[in-house]
Amino acid sequence: MKVTLSVIKADIGGYVGHSGIHPRLKEVADEELRKAKEDGLILDYVVMSVGDDLQLVITHTKGPDSGEIHKLAWDTFMEATQEARRLKLYGAGQDLLSDTFSGNVKGMGPGVAEMEFEERPSEPVVVFMADKTSPGAWNYALYKMFADPFNTPGLVIDPSMNQGFIFEVLDLYNNRVIKFKAPEELYKLLAFIGAPEEYTIRYVYRASDGAIAAASSTQRLSLIAGRYIGKDDPVLIVRAQSGFPAVGELLEPFASPWIVPGWMRGSHHGPLMPVAFYQANPTRFDGPPRVIAAGFQIAEGRLVGPRDLFDDPSFDDARRQANELANYLRRMGPFEPHRLGLKEMEYTTLPKLMKELKDRWEDAEKFTSDIREDAGKDVE
Ligand code: F6R
Ligand code: MG
Ligand code: MG
Repeated sequence: MKVTLSVIKADIGGYVGHSGIHPRLKEVADEELRKAKEDGLILDYVVMSVGDDLQLVITHTKGPDSGEIHKLAWDTFMEATQEARRLKLYGAGQDLLSDTFSGNVKGMGPGVAEMEFEERPSEPVVVFMADKTSPGAWNYALYKMFADPFNTPGLVIDPSMNQGFIFEVLDLYNNRVIKFKAPEELYKLLAFIGAPEEYTIRYVYRASDGAIAAASSTQRLSLIAGRYIGKDDPVLIVRAQSGFPAVGELLEPFASPWIVPGWMRGSHHGPLMPVAFYQANPTRFDGPPRVIAAGFQIAEGRLVGPRDLFDDPSFDDARRQANELANYLRRMGPFEPHRLGLKEMEYTTLPKLMKELKDRWEDAEKFTSDIREDAGKDVE
């Protein structure tokens, strides 16, 4: 049976501030999707959240980019936004860039990761969902999962993965893609994905048969709207086991937190902390950025799950390390690299300051010689 798994997410209002989701929004989303399931439009669904982002996990048979499914997600977000407005939740409707749906939610604000596959005799998948960061955050994890034998021994010792994986990389600023085959083209791949704010991994395929292995959301709201209106807080779907990395191999990269952009005001770097569902409420300095992992078995399109995969004491040390990194970075206050570089910051007062101070700048050479002349006069 061919199944499509769509994970569509949006920040349509925070509770309190940008730290979480109000339970009513999840209830409203649940009502909308339940009707769609009863009507036979979708096979199954689960409504989830991480931080201030609402995620709709949906299975159906319409294929990726289906107008009907995207409209369902859009209408669900619209309905939940009404509730967010009633409760005066923070930033109600912030990720919905328009009042009217135009056929595909991509480019309209919500983040989307989708894949279609022939359901295997057993189909384990993991959906990763992050808050306070951007889609490039997955680059490091996907590289470890699908290209690093120190993370994924299956790449070396499982004959079904031995031929490697193909990475499709999106050039965000030029809207074009390129494919690299690992392990043969590792260095070329790394040359691009090491710059995750410009190049993000969109899909991963198994090299032996082209089967889809991973799909991520790659939308960047600021590039779509031409201004800052919220963060992209990405999602990632990965298939596991039997020719794909084991569930434990998919989770292993998160045992060593890495540094991502997106903390406080979308303008600071912080560690990506793997947390259990109940811990997915970023409060300290509006963060630090965090990620949850929802495991599902898909059975005839039914979502059996989610299992809370980071709810495991063996990730306690990653959380401790993330807190240590957070303390270290916080001590830098308004200095880079805790604060992002000027081009990547989502808030800045610099243009205003430049305008205000424009007459106070002096020619650097002239200034030096004036001082020398003045100094000479003093000596005389
Ligand atoms: C939003 C976020 C927050 C906000 C901050 C200021 O996802 O990360 O850190 O940027 O709380 O929010 P505003 O400008 O809405 O007061
Ligand atoms: Mg928000
Ligand atoms: Mg968010």
